[in-house]
Formats: sequence, C-alpha cells, structure tokens
Amino acid sequence: MLTREFVLSFREAAPYINAFRGKTFVVAVSGETVADGHFPGLAQDINLLTTLGVRIVLVHGIRPQIDSLLGKQGIARHFHREKRITDLPTMDIVKQAVGLARHEIEATLSMGMPNSPMHGSHLRISGGNMLTAQPIGVIDGMDMQYTGQVRRIDVAAITQRLEAGDLVMLSPIGYSPTGEAFNLTMEEVATHTAIALKAEKLIFLVDGRGVISIEDKLLSTLTAQQAEELHRGGNLPNDVTLYLPYVIRATRDGVSRAHLVSSKEDGALLAELFTRGGNGTMIARDPLVRVRTATIDDIGDILGLIRPLEEQGILVKRSRELLEMEIGNYSVLEHDKRIYGCVAMHAFTDAETAELACLAVSSDHRDAGFGEALLNHVEYQARARGLASLFVLTTQTAHWFVERGFVETEPSRLPMSRQEMYNYQRRSKVFIKTL
Ligand SMILES: CC(C)(COP(=O)(O)OP(=O)(O)OC[C@H]1O[C@@H](n2cnc3c(N)ncnc32)[C@H](O)[C@@H]1OP(=O)(O)O)[C@@H](O)C(=O)NCCC(=O)NCCS
Repeated sequence: MLTREFVLSFREAAPYINAFRGKTFVVAVSGETVADGHFPGLAQDINLLTTLGVRIVLVHGIRPQIDSLLGKQGIARHFHREKRITDLPTMDIVKQAVGLARHEIEATLSMGMPNSPMHGSHLRISGGNMLTAQPIGVIDGMDMQYTGQVRRIDVAAITQRLEAGDLVMLSPIGYSPTGEAFNLTMEEVATHTAIALKAEKLIFLVDGRGVISIEDKLLSTLTAQQAEELHRGGNLPNDVTLYLPYVIRATRDGVSRAHLVSSKEDGALLAELFTRGGNGTMIARDPLVRVRTATIDDIGDILGLIRPLEEQGILVKRSRELLEMEIGNYSVLEHDKRIYGCVAMHAFTDAETAELACLAVSSDHRDAGFGEALLNHVEYQARARGLASLFVLTTQTAHWFVERGFVETEPSRLPMSRQEMYNYQRRSKVFIKTL
C-alpha cells in the first residue's frame, strides 16, 4: 500500500537525487567495516547511488586484515609515530591483505539477488595502477621502508572509468615509477583522490554516528573551523579523531562537503545524503547558511516561499513578471545550497531610505534565526548605500519588527512616490528603523 511517509520521503529526496546526478563521491570504507560483516548492507546503498547516476570512487582499508595475517604468520608489528613500519615481509602481507579485501568487496558489490535492492543492476568495478606512490623515507632516524605516501593520482584514468559508468575501487597501495609497491593508508588515498578529482563529497564510514558533542548530541553540521576546534579539544572516538584532520584538509582544498556516517546503522548513508536533517556529521568549509543576491534562477524558489503567504494575505501579491524585473533587489537565504528564505530591498535614494519587503522564511524552518539573518543583510546593504533608514509595511508581523528596533510611524512619513502606492484598504502599519 502507498503510505504517506513514503511519498513525503520520496519528495524530500528528489532534489538531492537531481543535485547528485553526475557528481563524484569518494567513499572511504575501513578494513574493519569489511571484516566485521557490515559491508553487504553498505554495498546495497553504494550500488543504489551508482544507479542514481552518482559517480563512486570506493577506497578501502586493510588494517585488521594486515594484523590478522601478520598474527597468523608470527610476524611482529612495528610502528613509529603511529605509522606502520613496512619491512619486506610486512609488504608481502600488505599485498595479500589487499587481495583478500578487494575480492570480498568486489564479490559483495556484484551480488544481484532477486528481492534485493541490487537485483538487475550490473555494477562494473574498475581498479589498477591509478595512484603513484613514493616512500615516506626516514622519520626521526627510523627508516619506514615500504611505508609510502601518495605522489600523484591519475585523474584522467579515474575520470574515464567513472564516465563509462564504472565504480572505481582504490586500495591503499601505490606503485613508484621504479616499479616498487608501497603501503599507504586508506585515509590518505581517499583524501588525495577526493581533492584531485574535485569531488562533491568525501565520505568516511565510522563506528558511531559521527561527531558527538559533550552534551552527547550528534552534531549534524560543522564548518571546517568548528571541526578543527573539536579535534583540538579531544574526547572523540578513535576513528573520528583519525579522520577529522583529513576531512578538514579535503574541505579546505576544494571538496564541497565531507561526511562522517555510521557504517553499522542500516541505511545511514542514504539518510545522510537524501534527508534534510541527515544522519551523520557533515563538514563544510564555509558556514552552511548564507544570504546572497537572488538571480533569475531563484524565481521558482521565491514564488514557492511567498505564494502561500500571499494567499493568506500576509504578503502583497507579486506577479512573476514583476519579480523578474526587480530580481536584483531580492536576496535569498541558502542553507546547504537550498533556499529557505527571501527578502527584498527597494531603495528610495532621494529620500535616503529603503523599503524592506517580501520577507519570508519557509514555514518548516522558522525560529532558527533565518529571518533575522535576512533583516541583517538588508540593513547592511542599506548602510553600505549610505541610507539613513529602513521602513517596512506590515499587517501581521509588527511585533517581530518592533523587537528588532523598528518603531511605528505614519504613512505620511513614507517617501512621496511610495505614499502614492500606499494601499489604504490593506491598512498596513508602517515601521521605520534609523540606521
Ligand atoms: C517573520 C518571519 C520572516 C520570521 O522568520 P524566522 O526565521 O522565524 O525568524 P527568527 O528565527 O529570526 O525569529 C523568530 C522569533 O520571531 C518570533 N516571531 C515569528 N513571527 C512573529 C510575528 N508575526 N510576530 C512576532 N514575533 C514573531 C518567533 O516566535 C521567534 O521568537 P523567539 O525567538 O522568541 O522564539 C517568518 O515568521 C515569516 O516568514 N513569516 C511570514 C511572512 C511575514 O510575516 N513576513 C513579514 C512581512 S513584512
């Protein structure tokens, strides 16, 4: 039966589906996730993303696989500054671990069982020598031997495979131009790849839900700077502590968004990507909320915001043509690339004043300070233009403006040209704020 929740969820997801088509996501899956049996659920969701046209580069880790093989063969583990020292026997184990993990991931991603979300999808997986590595060398007098670092990502090769519709899988191993293999880390490979590909998203799967505050609340959005402060403060789960510096670096180096999402909770990745509230932690370089000048492309969104308010008589009716003509006077509030509010400023330069009009915030995003952000923006613009005051005509929102420094005045105080247009039937009250 068609349920209301399904319809609402599907509608909520639709704008994201459109926005993500053709975009590149780098998904980093730790060796633990592959080893602990949580990968099949994740594989279904990754498969679904590719069906929706998202280009996926999957980078996998092999830490527990290496440790288990070393244990079985009685080879000791050596670390320096928390980095593994890869001697020749360990490098042989690294190659075996890569093979094991790759086969397991490829087999899981190839499942197309009837009655599973992957039924009918034929995902092709590409891989190969797409990264060049170099040794990290000697650190504090310690020769790290076959422990390497990323030197170059073959963007052209990866892009070509993604364009052909393949999922590209990268292992934490790279080759030098002299033909040697080096042991890399999943975090480094994923981050370098995301930056080199200018990926839309870099996603790390974590044991918990993401970054949790000291009040034990999930922090669903963070700027790179906030993430840095939290990292400095410590007290975060080990995997979050490990991944945050990479996430911060990626967002600072051009990756639009990075995410920490649960590897254990079924469907967490989809919920993070396709719902407004998300399900993990999203990190963006800049604040997610910004107010900017509207363009002609925003008219549909502005109409969506103001039409219901016009019908309720809260805002005066404006035609699409008028909006198109005056679009330069409008500003919109964007949150994570979606529009949740608008405002207009009509300047009366001769009278050194401006009218604030058409202020609206989407009904399900009120009381979050968006209205005030739009008002501040208009006040800033008016001051920048050297205007002395700002006025507003309102029938139902008087108190909101009074609480923000506006005082009631007579319509006769309006600039002459505005007085001529004053609608006496609406009996709007006039409020003015000296800037
Ligand atoms: C007025 C409006 C833009 C405020 O947007 P917002 O993003 O919710 O505003 P903020 O978050 O900055 O402020 C919210 C506060 O204003 C209060 N508020 C909201 N509407 C109000 C109203 N009509 N009168 C008085 N206070 C109001 C809220 O209760 C909240 O108070 P609190 O902080 O004490 O909890 C929004 O409610 C809206 O779009 N209303 C319909 C359109 C409208 O009236 N536009 C003005 C026409 S000129």
